[in-house]
Amino acid sequence: MNIGFSVFSGTGNTLKVCIHLADRLEALGHRCSVSPIVKGEANPTVDCDCLVIGYPVHAFNCPRPVIDFIKDIPATEARIPVYLVQTSGEPLSLNKAAAARPERLLRAKGYDVNGCLWYVMPYNIIFRHSDAMASRMWRVVQVRAGSDAMMISSLSASRLECSPVAGLVSRLLSIEHPGIRLIGRGFRADDRCIGCGLCERRCPQGNIRLVDGHAVFGHDCAGCMGCAFFCPVDAIHISILDSWRVNGRYDFEAASAGDEDVCRYCRGSYLEYFHRYES
Ligand SMILES: Cc1cc2nc3c(=O)[nH]c(=O)nc-3n(C[C@H](O)[C@H](O)[C@H](O)COP(=O)(O)O)c2cc1C
Repeated sequence: MNIGFSVFSGTGNTLKVCIHLADRLEALGHRCSVSPIVKGEANPTVDCDCLVIGYPVHAFNCPRPVIDFIKDIPATEARIPVYLVQTSGEPLSLNKAAAARPERLLRAKGYDVNGCLWYVMPYNIIFRHSDAMASRMWRVVQVRAGSDAMMISSLSASRLECSPVAGLVSRLLSIEHPGIRLIGRGFRADDRCIGCGLCERRCPQGNIRLVDGHAVFGHDCAGCMGCAFFCPVDAIHISILDSWRVNGRYDFEAASAGDEDVCRYCRGSYLEYFHRYES
C-alpha cells in the first residue's frame, strides 16, 4: 500500500511518533510518505491507498489547522481508509474526544475512518516532564508501534470509545480554536531575541516574521508552541499562558524513569498507562 501521513506537530512529538510508525510500516513492505500540515501548502499525501492524519490534542480537541486541512481534502467515493494518530501530554480519557470531529468530517467526505491511535508524549505547555519521563513515554510508543503498524497494515479497525461527558467537555473547549488565535496576538519576543529566525521557519501557520531582526507575531496563531519551545534563548512569551511556557527539547534517549522516579502528580494515570502497555 501507499500510505500517506499528514502531520501537524508543533514541537515534534506527533511527528516523531508518525515517523516511527511509518518506519514500521515500511518494514512490513508498504511505501510511506510523511508530510507536514502547513498553512497554504498543498498536501501530496491525499493521493494514496491509506491516509494517516497525525496531530496533538489541544484542549481535548483536534487543532484548527488539522480541521482546516480535512475540510480542504477532496471528497471521495473510493472509501479510502484513514487512521488518526493523536498524541497528548496526559493519559486522561477526556483526550479521546479529540478524535470525534475529524472523524465526523472525514466520514461526511466518504473516507472510512478505521480508527484512532492515541499515544502519550511529554507536555509542550503547562509543565515540563523530566527527560526520564519523556524517555519512558517514548519507550511505550516503541512497544506499541509494532502491533499498531500491523493493525494499519491489515486495515483492521481500532475504535476509541469516548463517553458523552468527554464529548460535551470537548465541545465546550473547542472555544480554544478562536481563543488561541486571540491569545496568540499577545505572543512576543523579548530583548533576548537574537533574530535567528528559527521560530519564523518552524511556524506551521506562517504567523511569525522577522522585522529588523526581531520576531513579530501576526493574527493566525494555532497555539502549537513550536516558537516558544524551540527558541534557543527562551525569548518568546506566550501572553496569558506564559506561566505554562515550556522551553527546550526533551532528551528521549535519557535513562527511562522507573516507577519510583515518577512524581506524585504523575503516579496515578501515567503509571497505569505505562503498565498497561509494558506488560
Ligand atoms: C494549546 C495546547 C493545548 C493542549 N491541550 C492538551 C489537552 O487537552 N490534553 C493533553 O493531554 N495534552 C494537551 N496538550 C499537550 C500536547 O497535546 C502534547 O504535548 C503533544 O504531544 C504535543 O505534540 P506536538 O509536539 O506534535 O505538537 C496541549 C498542548 C497545547 C500546545
